[in-house]
Amino acid sequence: MKTIIEPFKIKTVEPIKFTTKEERIKILKEAGYNTFLIHADDVLIDLLTDSGTSAMSSEQWSGIMRGDESYAGAKSFYRFEAAVKKITNHKFIIPTHQGRAAEKILFSILGGKGKYFVSNTFFDTTRANIEFTGAEAIDLLCEIGKHPEQRAPFKGNIDINALENFINKVGKENIPLVMLTITNNSGGGQPVSMENIREVRKICDKYNIRFYFDACRFAENAYFIKLREKGYQNKTVLEIVQEMFSYVDGSTMSAKKDALVNIGGWLSLNDEELATKCRNLLIVTEGFPTYGGLAGRDLEAIAQGLEEVIDEHYLKYRIRSIEYLGEKLLAAGVPIIEPPGGHAIYIDAKRFAPHIPPEQYPGQSIVCELYIEGGLRTVEIGSVMFGKYDKQTGKLIPAMMELVRLAIPRRVYTQSHIDYVAEVVTEVFNHRELLKGYKIIYEAPVLRHFTARFQPI
Ligand code: F0G
Repeated sequence: MKTIIEPFKIKTVEPIKFTTKEERIKILKEAGYNTFLIHADDVLIDLLTDSGTSAMSSEQWSGIMRGDESYAGAKSFYRFEAAVKKITNHKFIIPTHQGRAAEKILFSILGGKGKYFVSNTFFDTTRANIEFTGAEAIDLLCEIGKHPEQRAPFKGNIDINALENFINKVGKENIPLVMLTITNNSGGGQPVSMENIREVRKICDKYNIRFYFDACRFAENAYFIKLREKGYQNKTVLEIVQEMFSYVDGSTMSAKKDALVNIGGWLSLNDEELATKCRNLLIVTEGFPTYGGLAGRDLEAIAQGLEEVIDEHYLKYRIRSIEYLGEKLLAAGVPIIEPPGGHAIYIDAKRFAPHIPPEQYPGQSIVCELYIEGGLRTVEIGSVMFGKYDKQTGKLIPAMMELVRLAIPRRVYTQSHIDYVAEVVTEVFNHRELLKGYKIIYEAPVLRHFTARFQPI
């Protein structure tokens, strides 16, 4: 059969609230034209993030009831530990309440002034946790990854030559760790190839540098390898995942993505001395090493989610449903990052609304219009999120790309929801010349996109 169906039945449903366009205009104005400040109840289809928004399975909900809430040595911890080890084969598995908690612990210990961490592209919390220690976070994405309109199978790869040159420039002793973000969220959810992972391993061996994954979307990355990389078509996703992790010394993970749960994360590693330091810090900031900021029931749900996320029927549906939305938008002429990534479609706002200059935030304008037109909540990933001001002139230094992310929660929306999303985007695209720029009238000194308030120009 050609039709790819959702590989699940729906047992519990959650009604969504419909609003009128007039109501949405008022709601958006009251929220300062910032979709983060809208009540979720006033959103029809919520594509703000794929993080912590998964629908859990009946087995996961059963796990919630089975959760062992003992403070120390809970049965649920050992199930969690076994599930993470099955994937990573790492020796030490440290639970955390979400991804950035693992990052905070790892980088607090390894970071500090004069240190450099290198990645294909660091996600913003990862970068923030590195910079918070006084260290620098360096992104060395491969060239093709910087061109939204060009298709390539592995646009998330790190530039291997640039990596080696950088190591020689600043000295291997100043680089505690190289990290690959799989898939590359900030660069369009694009995957990293096994070959690239292997090459980074070689370089890290040559210079004796640690190599870690930011593993949030490891299963989606593995499925892309199965689909696109020679030699992997006949391997199971589990085999591919295990091979990927066999090349790294550790990982930070937000279980809110590819563990199909609403909260959770981990830090996995092989280095005993470092693990001990991390656990000691964990006790101060997260909790005892067998729960690390989570309840026993959360650990059960993660363990179960890790089995479900590498199911090939699930991944086939998952990757296809993003691609399906991408194809519909491309057919309507909407410019997006190509090819579609693993968890989201990224609209290229520069090409969508070329009449709005970066200083007037074209991405934000599209975000607002998608909400008004059809009640969609999306997020700007461009100069609102990453723009900086020139210290001398006070002028905006725009982000490299102006994007709008439509992140698709896992197992939450059906094909007709996705059809509706495509219709709304197309409608806004068809009257794109009417879109207006925005100016910021309030902003916080850091991570301004969460709380900024805007005004149409
Ligand atoms: N790394 C990547 C690649 C991420 O996408 C995220 C979160 C994190 C780390 C941090 O994990 O939220 O559990 O602390 N990304 C979310 C998003 C927030 O919407 O893309 P966390």
